[in-house]
Amino acid sequence: MVKTSRDPAALIALEERHGARNYAPLNVVITEAQGVWATDVEGRPFLDCISGYSALSHGHAHPRIVAALVAQAQRLALTSRAVRNDRLGPFLERLTQVTHQEAALPMNTGAEAVETAIKLARRWGYVRKGIPRDAAEIVVFDGNFHGRTTTIVGFSSTERYRRGFGPFDGGFRRVPFDDIAALQAAAGERTCAVLLEPIQGEGGVNVPRSGYLRTVRELCTERNVLFMADEIQTGFGRTGDLFACDHEGVIPDVLIVGKALGGGVYPVSAALAPWRIMELFEPGDHGSTFGGNPLACAVGEAALDVLLEEHLAERARHYGSLLLKRLREIRSPLVRHVRGRGLLIGVELTIPVHNVSEHLLDEGVLAKETRDNVLRLAPPLIVDDEHIDFIVHALTRALKREEEHANVSLRV
Ligand SMILES: Cc1ncc(COP(=O)(O)O)c(C=O)c1O
Repeated sequence: MVKTSRDPAALIALEERHGARNYAPLNVVITEAQGVWATDVEGRPFLDCISGYSALSHGHAHPRIVAALVAQAQRLALTSRAVRNDRLGPFLERLTQVTHQEAALPMNTGAEAVETAIKLARRWGYVRKGIPRDAAEIVVFDGNFHGRTTTIVGFSSTERYRRGFGPFDGGFRRVPFDDIAALQAAAGERTCAVLLEPIQGEGGVNVPRSGYLRTVRELCTERNVLFMADEIQTGFGRTGDLFACDHEGVIPDVLIVGKALGGGVYPVSAALAPWRIMELFEPGDHGSTFGGNPLACAVGEAALDVLLEEHLAERARHYGSLLLKRLREIRSPLVRHVRGRGLLIGVELTIPVHNVSEHLLDEGVLAKETRDNVLRLAPPLIVDDEHIDFIVHALTRALKREEEHANVSLRV
């Protein structure tokens, strides 16, 4: 057993003294977790509705995934891609089967997989579409979130993510999400790809209207533009289907995955595509010291097995619609709109989420904002009826408390 301090204030002070302050976390210090429950250093249990931003879809410390991690770590953890390892082939075979893609390029974090897709799309644009040198454009969307590298934040519509980090290179054209006319106007001769989250997670759980993804797919085919779906947050069952694109029967040209592929224990991501596109990468074009390492492959394979064998997508569909229905029944003047798909749910409030998150902590639930006034509820996909009850009651009480607090403030 690892020994750490049990004093939350001391641990927080230590972190603040030595760590960059690039996050504003809830002041709860988690020390262990199992399934949907995380426990803090004072022994308080919390139902985890943050789920590592959807990386914990299998729940914390899934026994099969942890067993795969430990066994592989003891045998062979890292080789680099300078030599081959015996876990890479089987993992890639499984991943391409599950995603219905032909070839995969394994990376570690989501942002790296997005960068991989961007390079692949530009290469395709120059070699296959004949776009003049360095003139390729990728269409992206208002409210997008694809990670934090300088290239990626360069095309964010969130000023806070960009401010002070320029200059940015260009090569991206941003249009409103869920607006076909805007996309039609933007996709031209120099467009190599459209990069889209089928449901915008960080942007506020924005679900496009039905038929949008299919129309984007058709437009991309018609204009000879790659359709690149970032399913890092929405993929592997989160929205109640294996992928959010599946809801509309859409197959992207480039599929970007991460988060839950690591089974909640290790960073594993990938960009996937048919060979007609992936063949454009040659030795030396791209890489990563850790991408495709044996530990990642063993974990990724176990995560895919558990996903399918435990029917996590079906569970997300069932419990997601139940949670959505129950949340919509909450009567509170602070709730403006409840939306989502599967177990990716946003509760839009009339006020900033912060106080409600704090009250939820007191009620034993971990949940945070995804945009200032949207509370994201995205528990592990292994939740059951009791957990759904727990979440709904906790949120009902948290909102009540905030209503009382607001009334008191009004009266004072
Ligand atoms: C849709 C999407 N793409 C990319 C990323 C970036 O992933 P990572 O934080 O692993 O780099 C995220 C993270 O939240 C995401 O939600």
